Amino acid sequence: KFLATAATALALSASTAFAACDPGEIVIKFSHVTNTDKHPKGIAATLLAERVNTEMNGKACMEVFPNSTLYNDDKVLEALLQGDVQLAAPSLSKFETFTKQFRLFDLPFMFKNMEAVDAFQNSETGQSMKDSMQRRGLQGLAFWHNGLKQMSANVPLISPTDAKGLKFRVQPSDVLVAQMEAIGGNPQKMAFSEVYGALQQGVVDGQENTWSNIYGRKFFEVQDGVTETNHGIIDYLVVASVDWLDNLPEDVRDQFMTILGEVTATRNAEAFAVNEAAKASILEAGGVIRQLTPEQRAEWVAAMKPVWEKFRDDVGQENIDAAQAINA
Ligand code: LMR
Repeated sequence: KFLATAATALALSASTAFAACDPGEIVIKFSHVTNTDKHPKGIAATLLAERVNTEMNGKACMEVFPNSTLYNDDKVLEALLQGDVQLAAPSLSKFETFTKQFRLFDLPFMFKNMEAVDAFQNSETGQSMKDSMQRRGLQGLAFWHNGLKQMSANVPLISPTDAKGLKFRVQPSDVLVAQMEAIGGNPQKMAFSEVYGALQQGVVDGQENTWSNIYGRKFFEVQDGVTETNHGIIDYLVVASVDWLDNLPEDVRDQFMTILGEVTATRNAEAFAVNEAAKASILEAGGVIRQLTPEQRAEWVAAMKPVWEKFRDDVGQENIDAAQAINA
């Protein structure tokens, strides 16, 4: 009995730690996989919840479940469709079973920097991509930035040939599989929450991710070093189910979308700085970061870029052209 009471008390305090949802309020559960501080998504999710819980008090309340505590990214889209959670923000690499359009964002060296990503997403083409999964019951609401990806392994990576024969964890995206194969690596799809253990135990030798994820999950501690390749991006789609959105009272939906739009603009403008701070924290913690000369970087471009050819039909030449026009 005591144990049961203690468990109830714990559950209660845990749920009140997220938000005090009052009876009658529409509960918005937001499940994601990263840490909350020094992370573009973590910070944005917290800000969104704070604003909803203050400004929509009495109408709606948001509970955020970070760090894969509720769902991994491979389960969260199903959970949205089941109505178990109402909001998620998986990386664009994790929608492959719902749409092939986002493959564009995984193609290596497609965008020269995050401003180019931002401009593309805010173009008509980019905005229409948010609607690409409506038939499957999902509605994209906003693109959230993380940043550019870096490569790490248990050996120094200077030339792409250094990656030959190494096992790399990738997100569940066939483009990323092809990219690692292009440099002679053995890619393995794996959930984010398992990467640290897999690197530590040598299940995989390396991985690619942004500074904020490499710092937030301490990957640098179990790697020889991180090479600043900036070879791709990790960005997110804030997503809900079509059903849930349709059933919201109009004023609630409008207010929520206004807040989400403002949080998106505010936090996307800070995402680069958040990643730079994470990079500095890696160095402070004794992590090794390696830079490439322009010639060395050109080798990575030459090795990885042929992957575009394989996915041209999926992503559409006109979308590649639009992205490249923004880079110019
Ligand atoms: C990953 O799986 O590496 C990332 O998508 C995690 C995240 O949400 O940033």
